[in-house]
Amino acid sequence: MTVISQLLNEPGVPPHEAKRLLTVATGRSLRELLADDEVGTEEAQRYLGLVRQRLAGVPLQHLEGTVQFGPVELRTDGRALVPRPETERLWEQAVDALGEAGPGTVIVDLCTGSGNLALALKHRFPPAGVYATDLSAGAIALAEENSRALGLDVTFLQGDLFAPLPAGLYERVDLLVANPPYVADSEFGGLPIDVRDHDPRQALVAGPRGDEVLERIAQDAYWWMGTGGWLFCEIGETQSERALGLFGSYLDVEVRSDLAGRPRILVGRKGGRCCV
Ligand SMILES: C[S@@+](CC[C@H](N)C(=O)[O-])C[C@H]1O[C@@H](n2cnc3c(N)ncnc32)[C@H](O)[C@@H]1O
Repeated sequence: MTVISQLLNEPGVPPHEAKRLLTVATGRSLRELLADDEVGTEEAQRYLGLVRQRLAGVPLQHLEGTVQFGPVELRTDGRALVPRPETERLWEQAVDALGEAGPGTVIVDLCTGSGNLALALKHRFPPAGVYATDLSAGAIALAEENSRALGLDVTFLQGDLFAPLPAGLYERVDLLVANPPYVADSEFGGLPIDVRDHDPRQALVAGPRGDEVLERIAQDAYWWMGTGGWLFCEIGETQSERALGLFGSYLDVEVRSDLAGRPRILVGRKGGRCCV
């Protein structure tokens, strides 16, 4: 047996991560662990193995296997980006803007990854029809697994941006959300190791400039959105002006800040005021 305080005091990961890894290694809650104050030798070995992986840059969420996003718990692994807190902020704002939904309400999530935005929106607006697309077959498979595990009926479609959507949704989308890739080729090498080596490159890098996918969303969004429809799109913190220019000629637009005060959320509305 190994005393828990001894394990947690080993040099390595910060204390809050150490506690979470210990619960993964033992399958026991922190409360149970603290009550026992001891773990078996195998559990201790498993814990030290997880610490080694974490120190090598494997994201904590991959080691835990799940991540909470708004009201839904999602499986997460190397097939898609680990959903981020700033995207949760986008989800909250999109929910506030839409307000309510009926059976005719249409929600579209482009670049869905693990399905986080689409599934959290379906959870919040059960009557709405929710459609989500992603270029990556792995991401779509993960999103479908999450959809089944949560019992939330979202239509996941593999393909390029709007291309796989049913033509019947043309000019009918009430809420369009997207967290597209927005990193430039040249910025990729400077990303933190747990992002660069463990999130798919296709989820991060848009092309030589970084705004290529955003530009392509802007070319088509107007035609898919219904009158009064909302757009919420995550952008890089240096892309506000470009994003306002791309969407501002046909939507009422503004850029909002994330919790850290960085301008990260483009909000737009077709045929109505988006913001006060
Ligand atoms: C930044 S990740 C966002 C994932 C997820 N929505 C989230 O918030 O965590 C971008 C996603 O866009 C997908 N993607 C990249 N280019 C795409 C394209 N042209 N059409 C559809 N999806 C694309 C990637 O495969 C990746 O899953």
